Amino acid sequence: MFYLVGLGLADAKDITVKGLEIVKNAEKVYLEAYTSILTVGKEALESYYGREVILADRETVEQLADDLLSGAVESDVVLLVVGDPFGATTHTDLVLRAKQAGIEVGVVHNASIMNAVGCCGLQLYSYGETVSIVFWSDNWKPESFYDKICHNSQRGLHTLCLLDIKMKEQSVENLIRGRQIFEPPRFMTTQQAAEQLIAIYKRRTASSDGKGDSSDDEAAADQNLFTDVTEESLAVGVTRVGSDSQRIAAGTLQQLADTDLGDPLHSLVVVGHMHCLERDMLRQYAIDVADFDERTKHVKE
Ligand SMILES: C[S@@+](CC[C@H](N)C(=O)[O-])C[C@H]1O[C@@H](n2cnc3c(N)ncnc32)[C@H](O)[C@@H]1O
Repeated sequence: MFYLVGLGLADAKDITVKGLEIVKNAEKVYLEAYTSILTVGKEALESYYGREVILADRETVEQLADDLLSGAVESDVVLLVVGDPFGATTHTDLVLRAKQAGIEVGVVHNASIMNAVGCCGLQLYSYGETVSIVFWSDNWKPESFYDKICHNSQRGLHTLCLLDIKMKEQSVENLIRGRQIFEPPRFMTTQQAAEQLIAIYKRRTASSDGKGDSSDDEAAADQNLFTDVTEESLAVGVTRVGSDSQRIAAGTLQQLADTDLGDPLHSLVVVGHMHCLERDMLRQYAIDVADFDERTKHVKE
């Protein structure tokens, strides 16, 4: 049988009792190590579970899926996933492949950032589409996440922004030369995410002010369908959710761009329409309480 076991969000002890029993009895236990991380490493899991855990990077999971699954025909194979197994799109594919190969699949759920983000006080029912904000490079600066956030905001909905993780990145030179040398892992911070959102807003505002040529203006007009996320927009940074060092900070995107929230992992929520209870919860985490009160005085009791 092939098991996907959710590990929860913080450390080794966040596994469920059901998950731990499966882990202890399985033939092989892999840890999916590229869509998310815990605050502890593989060794801490091995010591708590009392057994070997094999690190599975993107290649192992995506290219060697057949090998991973073939072991599950005769015996129990476990893939540990940080958060909930279905909190990342990647794992649905594995379930389909296993089922096509006639292998039975078991899933043990756990807390996910998709629901634990409720800790900031914004109601889970009032979120729109979740977006992923990716690291920009010199010649690749996608903006589609910005439009989705604006679209949610226009409907009064909050947006959970998951922030990019680069676990096994190769420099262009190493890639071209085929050298298996990898850069240190990188995790996007709420500061970087806020800066990218502000940069998109500023770029679009500048191009719609007539600084570009007419074709640029048309493109800008298209893109400017939704321009309501600005440096003044309210947002919340939630970091290391579920751990003892969890932090929540609420303020404008500019205030968040100026606030260091520490070690990974980070997520950002762009605030939509707030109920007064949501406002009261969020106020506890305001970076600047007086400024927060001024910006939210329209929220009715
Ligand atoms: C691709 S998602 C995987 C989600 C995971 N499977 C789950 O169910 O929580 C990874 C992103 O979720 C967010 N995230 C995951 N755990 C987090 C945590 N404990 N605190 C804050 N953000 C977190 C980060 O933005 C991270 O880059």
